[in-house]
Amino acid sequence: MRAFFYAPFIMAAYEALSLLLPLRVNFLVKLLLFVPLLVGAGKNHICGWLGGGMLFAPDLPRWGMIAGSLLYNLLVVAFVLTVLKDLTWLLCKLLPVQRIFPRLAVHMPRKFPAAAASAFVLALAVVSTVWGTWEAVRVPDVKYHDVEIPGLSAEFEGKKVAMLVDLHASALNRRPLFEAIVARTMAEKPDLIVMPGDFVDGPVSRREADLEPLSRLSAPLGVFASSGNHEYYSGYHAWKEQLQKFGLTWLENEHRVLSLGTGRLIIAGVPDQQGGRMGYTAPDLKKALSGAPAGAPVILLAHRPEAARENAKGGVALQLSGHTHGGMMPGLDLIVARANKGFVKGWYDVDGMKLFNSPGTSLWNGFPLRIFDPAEITVLVLHRPKA
Ligand SMILES: [Fe+2]
Repeated sequence: MRAFFYAPFIMAAYEALSLLLPLRVNFLVKLLLFVPLLVGAGKNHICGWLGGGMLFAPDLPRWGMIAGSLLYNLLVVAFVLTVLKDLTWLLCKLLPVQRIFPRLAVHMPRKFPAAAASAFVLALAVVSTVWGTWEAVRVPDVKYHDVEIPGLSAEFEGKKVAMLVDLHASALNRRPLFEAIVARTMAEKPDLIVMPGDFVDGPVSRREADLEPLSRLSAPLGVFASSGNHEYYSGYHAWKEQLQKFGLTWLENEHRVLSLGTGRLIIAGVPDQQGGRMGYTAPDLKKALSGAPAGAPVILLAHRPEAARENAKGGVALQLSGHTHGGMMPGLDLIVARANKGFVKGWYDVDGMKLFNSPGTSLWNGFPLRIFDPAEITVLVLHRPKA
């Protein structure tokens, strides 16, 4: 955890030496360019001094949160691009480019253009950061996905399931965002709404009003939810009670049987693994499906994708997860996938079970960045498999 606070300063120092020093501008300009990187590196310390912590944002105005996020994101994006720049330099040094590509070598500069490369990387980092931060804080679009579910009865053909996950209410993600998300979701007239966790960063006393718009969610087949890891950091029992007051049916190793005519569909939910680690209820699929009618397909809400193989063995037809925020940016998505058993975003076939790993409807205030990774309000359209 200490690395989380101190690694940004090492990144800032590296950027000062490799990105800013080679620039062809006077030293004072270089110093001025270093200031935002240094402030970005100190963001977690500043949040702490202002009454926040690693997980919870201090109660700053939203514009203050966005400004802090821009600086932190710039530090990270510039670091990744600077590393790529230096690897390119190293490759040019080590590889006999002139011998491999003699025709190309005629047009190449004799020396690596350090100043031009730094200026290009800095400009690219600024543009990517502004775009990626905007993508992270704007209201997400609706995205449709068709999904075939083996054993789905004719009555459920074409039914729409809206999925909202990783809302992460905070000083950054406030009530107007959730009002807009709820309005866009309800405009789709979903038949069922599911919400597999990470509603909040902060206690009920601070974030209740932000999430109150969720009480306007309704669907003929119900609104179902299960916990994410962040509920346990934020006062689990109080949030479970509050979200139930908003009208969400909480599935904690439980299921409900949805009936349409003679058709049956099971919606089940397991708590996040963090529950078990912190002395709350651990996920137990067997218990969640105990007493469920045989033959009816099972849709499982499980915040993290990582138990997908076990859930496939347990008879689940479709697992709906989030948690990864889609990996947030190219390169980082590979690391996020490694930390989540290879799952990061989109559709996976896991031993015959379908897993949908949503990129999230919003994301955690600690690193709000989305580069080529848009958030979404997911609408799944259920279909019977084509013969
Ligand atoms: Fe999560």
